[in-house]
Amino acid sequence: MSAPKSANITWHPANLSHDEREALIAQRGCVVWFTGFSGSGKSTIARKVEQLLLERNKVAYVLDGDNLRMGLNRDLGFSPADRTENIRRVGAVAQLFADAGVLTLTAFVSPYRADRDGARAMLPEGRFVECHVATPLEECEKRDPKGLYKKARAGELAGFTGIDAPYEAPDAAELVLDTVGKSPDVSAQEVVAHLEKAGFLG
Ligand code: ADX
Repeated sequence: MSAPKSANITWHPANLSHDEREALIAQRGCVVWFTGFSGSGKSTIARKVEQLLLERNKVAYVLDGDNLRMGLNRDLGFSPADRTENIRRVGAVAQLFADAGVLTLTAFVSPYRADRDGARAMLPEGRFVECHVATPLEECEKRDPKGLYKKARAGELAGFTGIDAPYEAPDAAELVLDTVGKSPDVSAQEVVAHLEKAGFLG
């Protein structure tokens, strides 16, 4: 990541160590980074995982692409540079959430490998769980929940991921979800099982 523009700034640490914070709140913060095509099921699965974790009395929160583009990222579009900035900001927010001990779930197309790796680099080792929602493009296009593939094919929407903009699939994701013929509930259970095994649920 590039250096901050401001000079003369100092990081102010908390009064207690990260381990002490996590012991007090009885959970370990992490980022589960869902990536995949629009319509692959990222948000639906992330919301289900959030629900399952909350029902286990864990603080979990979804940072969703469409939602963040209404606020923090409202000045960004879908050019390559804007997508990179989108992911850089989300990575920084996710880093703070995870540092606070939150089980943070992000649902962004995040089509560029370098941008996802940048987000990973902001987290301590082992705290970033990349989850490729590997629904094939043909299936996403068939689902087309927002009618965007139809628009993109009709030439009414330029630069749409998978149609005329690239998607660089992860080659070493911690989790790969095959959603075809599987309910989002089952995929969400797979994610929770992974978090349990990785020791994030206490
Ligand atoms: S990202 O590429 O910068 O990570 P993000 O996840 O925030 O994208 O937003 C993707 C969502 O925006 C999609 O689910 C879709 O609803 C909508 N969208 C609108 N235009 C595009 C586009 N050109 N490419 C991909 N998604 C788009």
